[in-house]
Amino acid sequence: MKISPLSNIAGAEITNIDLAQPLSDDDLGEIKAAWNEYVVLVFRDQELTADDQLAFAGKFGPTGERGTPVDRRRETDDYGGAVMLVTNKKDDEGKYVGTIPEGELWFHSDLSYQEIPHMATMLHAVAVPDTGGNTMFANMYLAYENVPAKLKEKLAGRRALHAYDFATTERVDVDKGLDEIQNCWQPIFIRHPESGRTALYVSRLMTAVIEGLERSESDEILATLFDISEDPNIIYEHKWQTRDFLMADNRCSIHARQDFPQDQLRLLRRCTVKGSETLSAAA
Ligand SMILES: [Fe+2]
Repeated sequence: MKISPLSNIAGAEITNIDLAQPLSDDDLGEIKAAWNEYVVLVFRDQELTADDQLAFAGKFGPTGERGTPVDRRRETDDYGGAVMLVTNKKDDEGKYVGTIPEGELWFHSDLSYQEIPHMATMLHAVAVPDTGGNTMFANMYLAYENVPAKLKEKLAGRRALHAYDFATTERVDVDKGLDEIQNCWQPIFIRHPESGRTALYVSRLMTAVIEGLERSESDEILATLFDISEDPNIIYEHKWQTRDFLMADNRCSIHARQDFPQDQLRLLRRCTVKGSETLSAAA
């Protein structure tokens, strides 16, 4: 197994390992350490069935159930909600077979709108377009460092409401009510349960409002935080290769997808690993 950094922001590439084969404790330990260090890991040239992928994910904890309600899922077999196909693939009748088929997707952390967000997202690239469809990962430890000291002080210990209704480039409008919309409060600055480091925990797609502030001030501060979290200087942009297997830490990164040509097939098979605890505010 060879680990090479992909940038000085986040991301490392791992080669010379086949994740479909049994994993030694040493290799697993090395992968976990690298994941903690680099936030995003990319294993090249993997050929994994859904079962292989879920078995690998299971080494990190119980796999999570996707957030999409059952009646809004398009996949015919999603392993009881453990697997999501992020794809523009269509069936014989021209209907999409998966989720988020088209277009841009704003920055977010998967399942941040649930009480215990999923800690890891794992994506296997089965098919990728020649151009476009890159996924951008922002390092939220670096985002926290870039929050001005005065704003850190003002927001310390404060929470924000995360809500999601499965739009791709639109935030939930809390003024319209949250009936049947998944939502929960999360600390704005979290203590990463494994690294102990502080990360900014907001995203343009899912963070709706800050607790205890007038709406106008909340909107203004969130706009600032979104800009900080989307600064190109803290982003690793991943250009997919077929057979990539990528795992990202949802507690200290957010991700977004660029648009891609609809005449080309893109299929990423996603699964997640459940978090083990609610996220605590940084001390
Ligand atoms: Fe996502």
